[in-house]
Amino acid sequence: MSSEVYAPGLEGIIAGETAISTVEGGLRYRGYPIAELAENTQYEEVAYLLLYGELPTRRELESFRRRLDEARLLPGELVRFLRSLPPGIPYMDVMRTAVSMLAHFDLGYRSWPSEPTAAGALERCIQSTRRIAERLLAQMASCLAAYYRLCRGLEPLSPRSGLSHAAQFFYQLNGEVPDELAVRACDVSLILYAEHEFNASTFTARVITSTMSDPYSAVVGALGALKGPLHGGANEHVMPLLRRIGSPERVETVLQEMLARKERVMGFGHRVYKTGDLRARILTQWAKRLAEQRGETLWEDIAQRVEDYLRQQKNLYPNLDWPAGRLYYYLGLPMELYTPIFALSRVAGWCAHVVEQWQANRLIRPRARYIGPPLRPVVPLEAR
Ligand code: COA
Repeated sequence: MSSEVYAPGLEGIIAGETAISTVEGGLRYRGYPIAELAENTQYEEVAYLLLYGELPTRRELESFRRRLDEARLLPGELVRFLRSLPPGIPYMDVMRTAVSMLAHFDLGYRSWPSEPTAAGALERCIQSTRRIAERLLAQMASCLAAYYRLCRGLEPLSPRSGLSHAAQFFYQLNGEVPDELAVRACDVSLILYAEHEFNASTFTARVITSTMSDPYSAVVGALGALKGPLHGGANEHVMPLLRRIGSPERVETVLQEMLARKERVMGFGHRVYKTGDLRARILTQWAKRLAEQRGETLWEDIAQRVEDYLRQQKNLYPNLDWPAGRLYYYLGLPMELYTPIFALSRVAGWCAHVVEQWQANRLIRPRARYIGPPLRPVVPLEAR
């Protein structure tokens, strides 16, 4: 085929249209610059914006928060399942299974159109996706907190109504809400992680939806894609690297060795942003504030030296995972929670894309360039 276009990793390919966000001219969610959203909104407002297209009024926000609160309690069967797991299972694997299980205990999901192509089914699929999105926003956070506590021999905590999403997460983890700076820093990280057009996990969710499969399946697939270290898994590698470097003086030596071995520095580089990621710059300010508050600025000093070195030597800039890995550490969160926290936030973006895919669906089915053996006859078994 002479007109075929081949771009490994779909690099530079426009694979669909979206009105949810753009990275052109600086990241914007539904037209709003990310810096303004991070400055002036809370995560719940952003999740609403992504799912429903507009920032909520105060009344809409209150009602949205109430619905989230009503959905936070986990089915007892899921808690029993979490309790039954053998030790040491990666948190992202648990989240993936848990989301799949949540579908079985969602009574509303039982009325998911069995024939989504039938007349009138489209609007029901869209409404149902938004309802499922709200449940997942609430329940994925409860599930992560419950599993975290069970792993430490503690009982899961019931949600406390009236808290912001970020504060609620801390409460369900530890039974207390930290100071305002900590809650707001976490909130901003959730805003920045919420959406990023056709990244790998979102594209996975859209591919699954394009077959007219259900939103739970789309989110399970997206979680699988997010887990990989080239995507969301990168934030868990930040503190181990900083610890391995240990002091600002050792930055050059360690990085030289890594680059010589062609090792990737997790939290650096991006498929789209080649001159820096605005989200990383915003979150770095919050990481620095937390580090100063804790009186623990060593990691920030090392991080700055790493940034300078990689910019000068490789023209590489940090992505959002670089400050996020440090910020979550300053918040006292254990490393295995970092990628799942990314997922708690990104589920809003995934579901917004699922809705959008339904609104103008076309099966996503690209072609492959064949590089296998040339045409050859099948040799019968006895002659092989
Ligand atoms: N550390 C070291 N070198 C890196 C690098 C990193 N984090 N990211 C890119 N590079 C180098 C590559 O080795 C390559 O160098 P070369 O041309 O000398 O071989 C060059 O930069 C281009 O990299 P490439 O892999 O083609 O870019 P990409 O668009 O496919 O990569 C990522 C995007 C995100 C996969 C890549 O930057 C990466 O692996 N980053 C680390 C993981 C991470 O932080 N993921 C979170 C993304 S938000």
